Amino acid sequence: MSKFETILVEKHDRVAILTINRPAKLNALNSKVHVEGVAALEELRNDSEIRVVVITGAGEKSFIAGADISEFAGQSPVTQRSVFQNKTLFNSIDSFPKPIIAMINGFCLGGGCELALACDIRIASENTKLGQPEINLGIIPGGGGTQRMTKLIGEGKSMELILTGDMIDAKAALDLGLVNHVFSSEDLEEKTLNMANKISSKSPIALQMAKEAIKTASKSNLDEGLRREIDLFAICFSSEDKEEGVRAFLEKRKPDFKGK
Ligand code: COA
Repeated sequence: MSKFETILVEKHDRVAILTINRPAKLNALNSKVHVEGVAALEELRNDSEIRVVVITGAGEKSFIAGADISEFAGQSPVTQRSVFQNKTLFNSIDSFPKPIIAMINGFCLGGGCELALACDIRIASENTKLGQPEINLGIIPGGGGTQRMTKLIGEGKSMELILTGDMIDAKAALDLGLVNHVFSSEDLEEKTLNMANKISSKSPIALQMAKEAIKTASKSNLDEGLRREIDLFAICFSSEDKEEGVRAFLEKRKPDFKGK
């Protein structure tokens, strides 16, 4: 039995699947999801067996249909600002050291789209609908959408999606580069786990360094980014995994990375 009310965690070897579990509300993100999701990710961060996390939504209809709009009613600006600046799932995903894949199975709206944008790789089912409909409520995205979407797909396309509040289908999201791959609903989990398993067979140290280096690209200028990359590249040379990877290549066998 899960110790969380709104989050399920399943482990398959080195991959954990974290499911937002409020299907009756299309997995809308209420404050409990944020608190429990942050706690679940903290456990997975410290679990040395787990090398990759997949985040998805319960049920077949929705990944996450946004922030729980019922919690917005009567909310003061000061409270709302501190809630979003505090320990949200968006922040925990952003600073999580291991790779996170969003497995998008249906509606991926508002905070759901922002959560997917905070993940490292996005894989969607054909029935997915993505969008930032906040403008229809008289507000704007507050979970990183205006920033992460713009960095990922550019200003013009982000303006269109955020200012119109329109939903787009999975094919359009793929064309925009908003998602990496689209599969049928039947194939989504298998294809996502194939990628997660492939990534989980690599050195966890190299994965962490690669993720940090890539994320530096969108947070700094080129000179700083290149310096950071050299530092992270050099750190890999202190690992037993680097010795194992090089030896395995020379011995024409598969490496067995231990994360040391
Ligand atoms: N917050 C709170 N509850 C939500 C929700 C949200 N973001 N999205 C869906 N729900 C709830 C609905 O209120 C409904 O609850 P109820 O059965 O108790 O009335 C349940 O989830 C099912 O949703 P419903 O609207 O009946 O499904 P649908 O198939 O007709 O429509 C959507 C699906 C996604 C188009 C529609 O639910 C929607 O527009 N949701 C809001 C999306 C949004 O604006 N997100 C950004 C928030 S900032």
